[in-house]
Amino acid sequence: MTEHKKEEERIEVRFTLNGQDVDCTIAPMQMLLHLLRDHFLLKGTKPGCEEGECGACTILVNDMPVNACLYLAANAEGKRVWTIEGLGNGQDGLDEVQKQLVAHGAVQCGFCSPGMAMAIKGMQLFQQRTQQVLDRAAIQKWLEGNLCRCTGYVHIVDAAERLLQQNHG
Ligand code: FES
Ligand code: FES
Repeated sequence: MTEHKKEEERIEVRFTLNGQDVDCTIAPMQMLLHLLRDHFLLKGTKPGCEEGECGACTILVNDMPVNACLYLAANAEGKRVWTIEGLGNGQDGLDEVQKQLVAHGAVQCGFCSPGMAMAIKGMQLFQQRTQQVLDRAAIQKWLEGNLCRCTGYVHIVDAAERLLQQNHG
């Protein structure tokens, strides 16, 4: 196959996106971040470093957080993909993760917030699945891949801790 033909190669991918079955044709090396933003116009998943360092692009795949900037869209085949748009919004109502972030003043510029909210949602689902109690140290560890330049993290961790305590209490 010539290089030119390789560049033109396209593949089909089918997955569930925020509860809806979707399918599309993609380049084999397309990252899920750009498929979400450019094809599905879901702009809440943020392009930050695009190197797996900042967590701004965090989404859930089969209920676990992944960096969409490093996740091949082809690998979403048959999986459940969940973005911030599927979590909640001002019109249809906020998810309890978002409510806790707001209640604790954990959102400033907001650039990290969608990724942070999805990482916390993943943590909540993990706690529910495993029945493990995640303490403050475990929450900090879980969130260490999500960078925030504004808040100093304390209010974000407070919000996550409150959420997990509520869910366990
Ligand atoms: S944009 Fe994906 S980790 Fe920074
Ligand atoms: S609120 Fe600004 S980067 Fe986190």
